[in-house]
Amino acid sequence: MENKGIFITFEGVDGCGKTTQINKLNEYLKEKNYNTVVTLEPGGSEIGKNLRQILLHHKGFVANKAELFLYLADRAQHTEEIVLKNVRDGKIVLCDRSIDSTVAYQGYARGYDIDKINLLNDIATGGYKPDLTLLFDVDTDISNLRVGKTKDRLEKEGIEFQNRVKNGYLELAKKFPERIKVIDANKSIDEVFSQVKKIIDEIL
Ligand SMILES: Nc1ncnc2c1ncn2[C@@H]1O[C@H](COP(=O)(O)OP(=O)(O)OP(=O)(O)O)[C@@H](O)[C@H]1O
Ligand SMILES: [Mg+2]
Repeated sequence: MENKGIFITFEGVDGCGKTTQINKLNEYLKEKNYNTVVTLEPGGSEIGKNLRQILLHHKGFVANKAELFLYLADRAQHTEEIVLKNVRDGKIVLCDRSIDSTVAYQGYARGYDIDKINLLNDIATGGYKPDLTLLFDVDTDISNLRVGKTKDRLEKEGIEFQNRVKNGYLELAKKFPERIKVIDANKSIDEVFSQVKKIIDEIL
């Protein structure tokens, strides 16, 4: 294979365990002497930190389409500044959320047209896609308990919204079985990680 890095995204409803597993995988890969970068959307770039603050914590009204474009602005900046740069440098880029979050949340859950979102995602990324996406599928009553009381703006949308997100993600996994691997995230942290490790060991 050419000397090029890998772009891996972590997806799933709020509280499914993405951040927990991205950190575990990062430790695992570093022990094996791989060069890794851990990043996230929204918020992985300098501009993105400001956008994240608005997206997750703005107190007043945020129009659905404004929300959509703020995520896309973050993605456009992040893809160029962080993801592509590091992949070209041969790094393994581990990214907490990306294109599929927008399809699942703004598309399947909020009802915005999926084809249009795909087009907008393509504009933001220049058509660049993750090499691998790990989808942490969890029952939303379990993830809701994990998130606890300190909910952000989207986590406050409630269980039906989270269920639409969950089912949207599963639709995506059916459409793109080569790229998106579904992980049973109802299990313990270590059991979830052993599923992650199995998939990663196969591709490295
Ligand atoms: N498999 C698991 N079993 C039990 N608790 C877990 C598991 N995975 C993560 N947790 C706990 O659940 C909480 C949420 O996990 P985490 O922050 O990793 O989820 P997340 O998907 O990153 O959520 P968000 O979308 O809100 O960022 C944390 O307190 C974490 O320690
Ligand atoms: Mg997280």
